[in-house]
Amino acid sequence: MSAEPPIYLDYAATSAVRPDAVIDAVTDYLRGIGATPGRAGHRRAVEAGRMVFRCRRALAELFNLPGDPGRLTFQLNATHALNLALFGVLRPGDRVVRTAYDHNAVRRPVNALEARGVRQTVLSGAPDGSVDLDEAARALAGNRNPARLLVLPHASNVLGTALPVAELASLAHDVGALVLVDAAQSAGHLPVDVQAMGIDLLAFTGHKGLLGPQGTGGLWARERVELPPAFFGGTGGDSDSPDMPGLLPDRLEAGSQNGPGIAGLLAGVQWVMERGVLAIHARQAALKLRLWYALDMIAGVDVLSPGDPDGVGIVTIAAAGMDAAELATRLDREAGVLVRAGLHCAPEQHEILGTGRTGAVRFSVGWATTEEEVDRAAAAVARIAGAAEPAVRAAGS
Ligand code: ALA
Repeated sequence: MSAEPPIYLDYAATSAVRPDAVIDAVTDYLRGIGATPGRAGHRRAVEAGRMVFRCRRALAELFNLPGDPGRLTFQLNATHALNLALFGVLRPGDRVVRTAYDHNAVRRPVNALEARGVRQTVLSGAPDGSVDLDEAARALAGNRNPARLLVLPHASNVLGTALPVAELASLAHDVGALVLVDAAQSAGHLPVDVQAMGIDLLAFTGHKGLLGPQGTGGLWARERVELPPAFFGGTGGDSDSPDMPGLLPDRLEAGSQNGPGIAGLLAGVQWVMERGVLAIHARQAALKLRLWYALDMIAGVDVLSPGDPDGVGIVTIAAAGMDAAELATRLDREAGVLVRAGLHCAPEQHEILGTGRTGAVRFSVGWATTEEEVDRAAAAVARIAGAAEPAVRAAGS
């Protein structure tokens, strides 16, 4: 094991390293409030409710949500939000257009819906992360069978590339389809503006770019896109009604809310907004490019992510003759570099990249990453997987 402190480069999975403000917000909530939002009239419950409202309002500002912030409902994560949206919108006979860049959080629910009579068309994708807009237009129009929904990730969790959401949303709206965006990888890393991008439904997680704890996330649906509840239970109001309330957010928030998680999420969103998403993106783009160039120079390493500043801070590689899981394990054990290997819950993207059988190794930078960490990580890859290493050593010895 390396004696140096570990280098966390798995921010695309979760921001396991969090700002003190987030950690303090969770502990302060547990110490000072601790009550369930909306479940009593006493001061602690009222304070909890205020905090949840502040978080909804902060997210509404971050995502430029129009109208009532109550249309943003808190969910456990992006997966729950996506399931709620997909199962809420799609009916037997409907057609959904999705992409080969989808995470299993989209692919699996859509496959489950297909078994119930929903049809799907998958946009093919390419190794550079692009989308063919002509293919998308044809798929959305169908053969006199326009799609009901377009679902797409804002950013690929394997390549880090950003999809052209506004262009695709415009094509979807041309045929009357709704647009559901999976912002799991982009929220907090890239500007997400639902009005400018033409988004009808936005699913996000709280524990990646928004720096909150796991168990936080949410779904926003624009006015007149009304989703039925997937869960039924107490909402703290209308208790004499046998049915779920019609109004949001209560309709989609059955059961006690995750007070400590949302307190941490609020602190994370405030952290992001104080620094500004564009500044965060610029910093992470610089780190990503530094890592990209360092890895690209290593003989035997194939850098799969495009080397440009767009998208999010992900660099995914394959190393010739070395299993992805073995490389990730050795990076951890021998150099303290923490990354994610495998298919990243997105097997179709790996098919496109030719890594469907082997998987790949993903490095992802975040708010606390430094230049020195990036350089040490690249040096460790060169040492462990670089085909040029023996020659360099021989030349130097
Ligand atoms: N979806 C997360 C990832 O890509 C967990 O790693």
